[in-house]
Amino acid sequence: MERTFAIIKPDAFKAGNAGKILARIYAEDFRVVGLKKLYLSKVEAEGFYAVHAGKPFFDELTTFMSSGPCVVMVLEAEGAIKKWRDLMGATNPTEAAEGTLRREFGTFVGENATHGSDAPETAAFEIGYFFSGLELL
Ligand code: CMP
Repeated sequence: MERTFAIIKPDAFKAGNAGKILARIYAEDFRVVGLKKLYLSKVEAEGFYAVHAGKPFFDELTTFMSSGPCVVMVLEAEGAIKKWRDLMGATNPTEAAEGTLRREFGTFVGENATHGSDAPETAAFEIGYFFSGLELL
């Protein structure tokens, strides 16, 4: 079993789509082993997305991620990292395939409804950034 880290971003939460996204997660047979609602500070968002520091979209991204509540999760499944990325679809919602979460709930590349880890090392960092071992059940 593999674990990945996922976020329902502030745009999707604000639009009232968190429940629909969670329903899709359960329907696809992920185990939700960690889940909490957070309102990130700008500094916390910058720490989470440190890998993108210096990129032209970094300030816009971290301002957006600290603009309202989000839901952070740890999802478990066989091949969870790829399975969650496939369910989300392409980073840019206008390029995401029909039926994917970003196509359905995202607006543009900067407000794309969901986040997911892109590799096992990233998943380990991202899970550890938000969850202690005691919170993963
Ligand atoms: P996410 O998967 O959370 O990882 C980094 C985020 O940066 C990405 O989703 C996008 O929402 C955001 N972003 C904003 N602008 C861009 C861009 N031009 N290229 C890639 N990612 C971008």
